[in-house]
Order: sequence, then C-alpha cells, then structure tokens
Amino acid sequence: MPRTVIRGGLVITAAEETAADVLVEDGKVAALAASGSECARGWTADRTIDATGKYVIPGGVDGHTHMEMPFGGTFASDTFETGTRAAAWGGTTTIVDFAVQSQGHALREGLDAWHLKASGNCAIDYGFHMILSDVNDSSLKEMDLLVDEGVTSFKLFMAYPGVFYSDDGKILRAMQRASVNGGLIMMHAENGIAIDVLVEQALAEGRTDPRHHGEVRKALLESEATHRAIQLARVAGAPLYVVHVSAQEAVAELARARDLGLPVFGETCPQYLFLSTDNLAEPGFEGAKYVCSTPLRPVEHQAALWRGLRTGDLQVVSTDHCPFCFTGQKELGRGDFSKIPNGMPGVEHRMDLLHQAVVDGRISRRRWIEIACATPARMFGLYPRKGTIAPGADADIVVYDPRAQQTLSAATHHMNVDYSAYEGKRITGQVETVLSRGVPVIDRREYTGRAGHGRFLTRETCQYLI
Ligand code: URP
Ligand code: ZN
Ligand code: ZN
Ligand code: ZN
Repeated sequence: MPRTVIRGGLVITAAEETAADVLVEDGKVAALAASGSECARGWTADRTIDATGKYVIPGGVDGHTHMEMPFGGTFASDTFETGTRAAAWGGTTTIVDFAVQSQGHALREGLDAWHLKASGNCAIDYGFHMILSDVNDSSLKEMDLLVDEGVTSFKLFMAYPGVFYSDDGKILRAMQRASVNGGLIMMHAENGIAIDVLVEQALAEGRTDPRHHGEVRKALLESEATHRAIQLARVAGAPLYVVHVSAQEAVAELARARDLGLPVFGETCPQYLFLSTDNLAEPGFEGAKYVCSTPLRPVEHQAALWRGLRTGDLQVVSTDHCPFCFTGQKELGRGDFSKIPNGMPGVEHRMDLLHQAVVDGRISRRRWIEIACATPARMFGLYPRKGTIAPGADADIVVYDPRAQQTLSAATHHMNVDYSAYEGKRITGQVETVLSRGVPVIDRREYTGRAGHGRFLTRETCQYLI
C-alpha cells in the first residue's frame, strides 16, 4: 500500500486545529508533525498531496442513512453503490445504515438481507443499526447477539402504526434489554397514533396537499413522544438517542433531560436546519420533494436547533438520507399526502452545508468536525478508528477547500435522485480529495473509488457516555 503525505494543510479535529503534515501508511494515520518541521520533512512517500491553503479533516461519519429502504410500496432510490459514491463526493467516508426487521420475522433475516444489499457494493465503509419492528421474546434475545456482532444500536418507532410502530410496553422492554446488553436505543419520536387520526381527518376534509403532511405531524406530537421516550428510558435505566429532531419543543425536552444529567442525546439533520414548511408549501405538488418525518417545521424552529448544536443539547448532525425520485415515487402521493414516500436526499451535502454554517458564523470549525465526524463516531462505537485524525486511526481524510464556490443542483450532484432539495443554493467550500483507509476515492474532484472498497464495520457499544 502506498505511503502518502498530506502537506501544508490546517488539520482540524474536534479537539484542535494545527498546521500539520499527515503521514499515511498501510491505510492508517501513521504520524502528524508540524508542517515544515524537520520530522515532517524527513518523511518519504509514494504520493504527496499539497494541502496548502486547505483544511485536512476527518472523513464525515453519517450515522443515519437509508439506502434501498422499502417505504410505502417503493424503495429509496440510492443503492449502496450509488449512495456511498455520492457520500464520498461529499466528504463522508462512513455511513451507518438501517437494516430492517419486518413484522413477524427475525432480526437475523433483516440483517442478512441488508448485508446482501451492501456487501461488495460500497465505496466507503459502512455499519448497520437494526430497526426493531417486532419486539418479542425472541427478538429481544437476538438483540444481544447483534451487539456481539457489532450491530450495537436499535431504532424504535413511536410513529407509523401497523408498519414500524412499537407501543410503550414494547419500547420499555427493548430499552430494558439495551440497558443490560449495552445497545443504544434510537427513537423516532412522534406520536403516530394521534398523527394517524389527524391524517384521516385532513384527508376527509379534502386537505390532501403535501403541506398538510407538516400540519398533521404537529410539533407537540414530536415533543410529547420525545418526553415519553425520555421517561421510558429513565425507567429502564438506558441511554437514549433521539433521531431527526426538528421541533423546538422537542429540543426543550432534550435540554431538560440533560439538565437532569440523563444520558439523552439528540440528532438533527440539514433539512431541518436549512429548509422549512415554506418548502412543503411550494405549489404544483413540488412540496412533495420535502416530505419527510419528522416533518420540516416553520422557519422559527431553526434557531432552536442551531442553539442546541451550540450548547450541546444536540450532539450530532446526520442526513437521514432516504431519497425518492419526484417522478414516479413522490408522485405516488398526488391527491393524498399520506401516500408520499417519506424521506429526502442529502448524504452528499452534509459536510458542505455545515461548512456553510461555519462560514456564516453559526458554529466553529471544530464544532463542525465534532457534530459531523467525531461525535457520531463515538456515539456509534467507531472512535477513534473513525471521526478523527490521529496516529492509529483509519486514514479516512478529506482535503477540503474552504474558499471554493459551488452551487448545489440535481444537474451536478451524484445521488441517484431526480431533484435536489437545495437546488441553486450557493455554498462556500468544497471537497477536493478524499481518502478512505488511505485509498483515494475522490482525487482532485475526480471519482477514483470503486464499489466493494467499503468494508462492513463491527462497532463497539456507544462510547459517548465514557
Ligand atoms: O422521512 C423519513 N425520515 N424517512 C426515513 C425513515 C425514518 O423515519 O427515518
Ligand atoms: Zn421470517
Ligand atoms: Zn425515523
Ligand atoms: Zn431515518
């Protein structure tokens, strides 16, 4: 394996920023030394990457994606091949995707099926969470086995009755099991039973447009579910990670729990930070492009999310990448918003959108790396192999040009979806080169990766508590 030296860049981790050269050997970070120092000048390499004027950052860790996810009679349009390639273009070198247990089936069957989808197809490394759709004696036992195999987190749904939904008793049982086996419970916190009543009423009254998706999935029904999930986790003595937080009232619930010292964590996503119900209300069924759950909120919720990211009440930004093409997929819900497949594309743009937040003064550079790389790696048991640049870590490294200008567009993105949720958005900053375990997958804005390079990651249990 070639030795590579990255010279002259500003190395940014969650902990510090240093003008350092980085030596990569055997797919790992071998050493860092002050740029131009005698030590660094002594390094010989097969390849030198000039990072002068650039940032040298850990590859992004996206802890929430859904490649090829079945939903509403169709499948998310990115395969593991196309989705991980797009992730690499955007400077993400690790994804943790969700294997799905179908009701009436074993966890093992779901996990095996997801291994088959991903194996040999990924451009970057990947792990799995497990979606628990059927909590019973046997699936609870299986949780322990999965933790031993490196699938150490489990998503439960308080939404989608009849599909993924678990009632409070099932949730409590899964949490109790997690409190013993070390698994992390991830919660989709929306009161799906109440939402389904409001959906039925809206449709009966002829309110069928995409914007009504946002109206029936009320912020209060997110915060109520968040509160309930927190109390159940307290009773079980288990940590809790709430996914795709969008409502300011839900952030307040998390903040209150954290003020009590509880191990409760929250993730938000770029769509909630940059988009709003204004997008859902776009005319001509265009709003369908922005249908996801939890839903986009009125623009004033964004301030609470940014504040949560600054104060630490929210710890992670993942994408919840779950793309459906407008043509033929989102269109399934014309005349009935409840039939629009839920989910949005975004795996390619997370690092850039968050860099824009750095440029705009919303977060610091180190916080950018913390919420997009280091904390998700810790949360999902991948640190320090992933999420940082340090001797011994995998050489998942991005050379990032903080001054490049780009415009996000479906015409230029690499995700397999026919629209961009950020069409026309100007971004300062762009990925230039990406190494995955020392191998260039993006080289000066050319794709040089290959399907099958990415390996399955067996994960430790959550390291964020220690
Ligand atoms: O709308 C969304 N978020 N689709 C993906 C499934 C989920 O609930 O995360
Ligand atoms: Zn079965
Ligand atoms: Zn969800
Ligand atoms: Zn999701």
